[in-house]
Amino acid sequence: MTAPTTDATALPFDCSQIAADHGTPTWVYDAAVIEKRISEVQQFDTVRYAQKANSNLALLAIMRKHGVKVDAVTAGEMHRAKLAGYELGTDDVVFTADIFDNDAIEMIRQYNVPVNVGSPDMIDQLAEAGIDVPITLRINPGFGHGHSQKVNTGGESSKHGIWHTQVADCLAAAKKHNLTVHGLHMHIGSGSEFDHLAQVAGAMVDAARTFAEYADTLTTISAGGGLPIPYRKDNLERIDLDRYYQVWDDARKQIAEIAGRDIHLEVEPGRYLVAESGYLLTQVRSVKQSGSKHYIVIDAGFNDLVRPSFYGAYHHISVVRPDGSTPEGTTDSIVAGPLCESCDVFTQEEGGFVTTRSLPTATAGDYLVLHDAGAYGMAMSSNYNSRRLAAEVLLKDGQTHVIRQRQTFESLTQFESIPDGI
Ligand SMILES: Cc1ncc(COP(=O)(O)O)c(C=O)c1O
Repeated sequence: MTAPTTDATALPFDCSQIAADHGTPTWVYDAAVIEKRISEVQQFDTVRYAQKANSNLALLAIMRKHGVKVDAVTAGEMHRAKLAGYELGTDDVVFTADIFDNDAIEMIRQYNVPVNVGSPDMIDQLAEAGIDVPITLRINPGFGHGHSQKVNTGGESSKHGIWHTQVADCLAAAKKHNLTVHGLHMHIGSGSEFDHLAQVAGAMVDAARTFAEYADTLTTISAGGGLPIPYRKDNLERIDLDRYYQVWDDARKQIAEIAGRDIHLEVEPGRYLVAESGYLLTQVRSVKQSGSKHYIVIDAGFNDLVRPSFYGAYHHISVVRPDGSTPEGTTDSIVAGPLCESCDVFTQEEGGFVTTRSLPTATAGDYLVLHDAGAYGMAMSSNYNSRRLAAEVLLKDGQTHVIRQRQTFESLTQFESIPDGI
C-alpha cells in the first residue's frame, strides 16, 4: 500500500454554482482523476475498462483517447462503445457475460465481436449461430472473494464463469466447432489482499496447464478487475499497483513457459478508473429528530446511488453551506433519501443495519456530497418512484460540461401506452 499525496476529501467544484446551473441531485465527475488513474495502470499490456462501472459516452471517450479498451456485458454496452468511437469486431471491445441474450448474439454476429464466455453453453450457441469469433474462457477457480456476499465472484455459490474442472470440455467443444480459444480470464476481485491474489494467479497457472494439455492456442490472460479504492477516508492507503502487477507478471511468465510463447497480460478495472472521479451532489431538504435519532433527508435516493442500500457500501460525506463553508459543530446523523422504502438510507452497513455518522450539523438548504460515486453510481440508477435520472456533468480543464441532461418527464413515460377502452 502507498500513502496518498492530496487531500482526498476536498471538492473540486463549487456546490452552489453546480446546483444553480444544473440542479440537484447531479453527478459531478473530475476528468483529471480518471486520467491519473489510467496513467497508473499502464504496466499492463492492455487495460480494458469494465464499462459497467460507468458507461457514460464521455467517460468512454476519455478511456479511448488514452488507449484504454473496453469490455461490454450487453448489446447496450456494445452499442455505447461503438458510439464512443471504439471499433466493434476488433480487440477494442470484448463481450464478456455468463449468457448471450438475443440482442447480444445478434450484435456479436453483425460485428464479429470477440467473446469471453462465462458458461460452456455459450460455445455451442456461437457455433449454432454460425459465429466464428476469437474466444476466451472466464474461469471460476472454485473459490471467491468480494467486499460483500453480493459481489462474490468465485466459488460454487457464485453464478459466474466456467467451473475450473471444465476447461478441457470447453476446449473440446470449441475444437468440435472449429472455434479458437486464445485466452483465459479470471475476475475474482481480490484487490489488494495479496495472499488471496497469489492464489488466484496460481489458479490461472493451473488452468493454463490444463489448457496446454488440450490446445496450443493460448496467447492471452486477463486478471479481471477488482482493484480497490480507499472509500473510507480514515485509511487512505492505496493499492500497491507495482506489487499487484508483479503477482500477475510472475503468473504470466510461468504461463509463457507452459505455452511456449509470450503471453499478453490484460487487466479489467472498473471502479479503480472512475470511482474517485465522481461525486453525487445533493441538497438537504429536511433535518428532523425521531426520538433519539437525528435525520438528514436529502433529494437523492437509492434510485440514484444504490450501493449503500444494496450492499451496505460506505461513501464519504461532505456537508457544505450555500456560501461554501462547512457548518459548525457535528451531529451524529442518519442520512436518508426521499423514497418510499425504509432502506433508502445512505448510512447503513451490510445487512441493512442503519448507522449514524458524525457529520457537520446540517440545515435544510445545505448541500450534501457523496464521494467516490463515479463507479456503480449512475450506472445502477433507476426510475423507482418515477424519479428522473439525475444530470451528469464533467469537469475538464476548468470547464463544466453537461454529459447527460436530467431526464425529462416526457421520457419517463415515452414507451408506455394506455389500450383503447380503458
Ligand atoms: C467480469 C468483470 N470484470 C471486471 C469487473 C470490474 O470490477 P471492479 O469495478 O471491481 O474493478 C467486473 C465487475 O463486476 C466484472 O464482472
